[in-house]
Amino acid sequence: MQNFIYHNPTKVIFGKDSIGKLSTVLPNAKILLIYGGGSIKQNGIYQQVVEQLEGHSWCEFSGVEANPEYETLMRAVSMVKNENVDYILAVGGGSVIDGAKFVAAATDFEGDAWDILAKGAKVKSAKPLGCILTLPATGTETNTSSVVTRREYNLKLPFMSDHVRPQFAILDPQATYSLPTRQLTNGIVDAFVHVMEQYLTYPVNASVQDRFAEAILNNLIEIGPLVLESKDYDLRANLMWNATQALSGLIGVGVPQDWSTHMIGHELTALHNLDHAVTLGIILPRVMQYQKEHKREKLLQYAERVWGLSRYDEEGAMDLAIEKTEQFFRDMGIKTKLSEHNIEADVADKIASRLEQAGMTKLGERQNITPKDVKQIVSASF
Ligand code: NZQ
Ligand code: ZN
Repeated sequence: MQNFIYHNPTKVIFGKDSIGKLSTVLPNAKILLIYGGGSIKQNGIYQQVVEQLEGHSWCEFSGVEANPEYETLMRAVSMVKNENVDYILAVGGGSVIDGAKFVAAATDFEGDAWDILAKGAKVKSAKPLGCILTLPATGTETNTSSVVTRREYNLKLPFMSDHVRPQFAILDPQATYSLPTRQLTNGIVDAFVHVMEQYLTYPVNASVQDRFAEAILNNLIEIGPLVLESKDYDLRANLMWNATQALSGLIGVGVPQDWSTHMIGHELTALHNLDHAVTLGIILPRVMQYQKEHKREKLLQYAERVWGLSRYDEEGAMDLAIEKTEQFFRDMGIKTKLSEHNIEADVADKIASRLEQAGMTKLGERQNITPKDVKQIVSASF
């Protein structure tokens, strides 16, 4: 196992009616409530939040898009400055929470805030924030990452900072009842791929991380189809906690990580506006196939422990595990081929050169996925 430091100070308030505990964790400060396109008004969460804000000085910013946009977020930054906001409360899915993280960092940043994303400029401080999660998927509610899109450049870029980790995350599984099937599907597949990016690499004898990752994968395979059919509270609770744990940082400590599927996927969203999870469902099976030899040991372990496949026929077990992974995504409703999204073959060249321009020339846990390999991986996705 590799050395690591683990510190995740996000306070998680989990369970039925937990939004009712918001007032107990909000500081006495001027608060900005930031949210998306209005789903929280339709499902009653906005009202619950407003009740909890009673007695606080607060203002609101709405309209954070799916795949949050830089320009929108910079308008929120102006509001934070003009209204003297000192605490940010994000209520929504990954896009709203990621957006709030960027706003928190950009407000304090000296210089051009775009540099945080484009040049990896160091975030030295940020406005404190807390969140209420309405879509189990990204894990952003307890982690340090954020992904922001700048439409004028067709760029979708991540940044990470300890300063933007939410101080609290309220997770009420009932908030998921209003989710359309498409978003539930996205959540299941995104969480699954988060685990795979941290698990399907090479062995370093990290037994807790491995078994914990396998547990999440097995859970998602088991509850995925059921969640799409039912509003059973316990199913939703389990989906929510599995998705949080998939990217809280815990299963990723002390192990090599891949993330090539995500980096290629972000390009597909930037260029073709595909949902984040859809891009992952398309690319992951191809990365698994392309990197089969480099991932051999973990792929066999995955085949055996997650899909119950015998190692007797190693080649067959690996191929079947890849096939079953893709079939799982398809069963969830994801179209896993680029041709099913009317995307032209030249996208492979485009993505390879865009990643090269962005300096992402050595992807994967072995840094052996070059733009030339990316081109082949994308080409195999039709
Ligand atoms: O905008 P509103 O009205 O809130 O509607 C949203 C949006 O249209 C809707 N929604 C959310 N909760 C709902 C709901 N509709 C009904 N009922 C509810 N309870 O769902 C739509 C999609 O929301 P979005 O936040 O975009 O989805 P998701 O949570 O999947 O987030 C995706 C974003 O997160 C990034 C992705 O790249 C993408 O930009 N990621 C962030 C990560 C991180 N910070 O660690 C890791 C991930 O890999 C990912 O890259
Ligand atoms: Zn993801």
